[in-house]
Amino acid sequence: MRTFRWIVALSLAAAVLVSAQRRGPFRRTPETEARPLPKDDAEKRILDVIEQAEREGRLFASVPVADGRALRLLTEAVNAQHVVEVGTSTGYSGLWFCLALQKTGGRLTTFEIDARRAAMAREHFKQAGVDRLVTLVEGDARQTLSRVKGPVDVVFLDADKDGYVTYLEKLLPLVRPGGLILAHNVDMAADYVRRVTSDPDLETVFYMQGGGLSITLKKR
Ligand SMILES: C[S@@+](CC[C@H](N)C(=O)[O-])C[C@H]1O[C@@H](n2cnc3c(N)ncnc32)[C@H](O)[C@@H]1O
Repeated sequence: MRTFRWIVALSLAAAVLVSAQRRGPFRRTPETEARPLPKDDAEKRILDVIEQAEREGRLFASVPVADGRALRLLTEAVNAQHVVEVGTSTGYSGLWFCLALQKTGGRLTTFEIDARRAAMAREHFKQAGVDRLVTLVEGDARQTLSRVKGPVDVVFLDADKDGYVTYLEKLLPLVRPGGLILAHNVDMAADYVRRVTSDPDLETVFYMQGGGLSITLKKR
């Protein structure tokens, strides 16, 4: 009787494993790909500029939509009052941050070395009605980042990948406990990945749906 029970239990476990393998990886459906729905006019104005920028192809190495949505969601979830972004480009990721910040009452400080992209970003922020939330600092972030004053709730690294560790070391002391450090395209930033996964004060997970986003919590 005991042997029979073991056989039944093992057969059940095997059936569950086989069915899990057959199910395969997560499949995208029209629902999982649905665009964000604006809750009010302010959200609609920002989302319109995001969509217009996508349509007109005025994006320079911007984050994919999936990552933009994650940036917004994380920022709103931690009720961020101050977000610091390194690598503004034309302001696309900044617009996703602003979707959250116009709800939390927070602000974005963003750094860009390229004057033409900075000008386009300013234009996008104005069109979206969020320019009052944004301070855009033009120049090399390796020099200009020292202007940032804490506390910072969310850091987003999306500039030259070999600068990520330098940017992290400058900004980490300013991040409040419970704050987040996000970094894009971390598949190209091995030193950074080693740094954030070997510090007991940090907890890091990797979100691979878009362009490879690491999400690091500065522990309390
Ligand atoms: C991948 S793009 C940023 C995309 C942007 N976060 C978005 O999703 O819309 C990287 C940007 O970092 C800027 N950049 C590169 N090195 C920089 C530096 N040392 N200081 C400031 N910006 C820099 C580049 O000019 C480029 O616009």
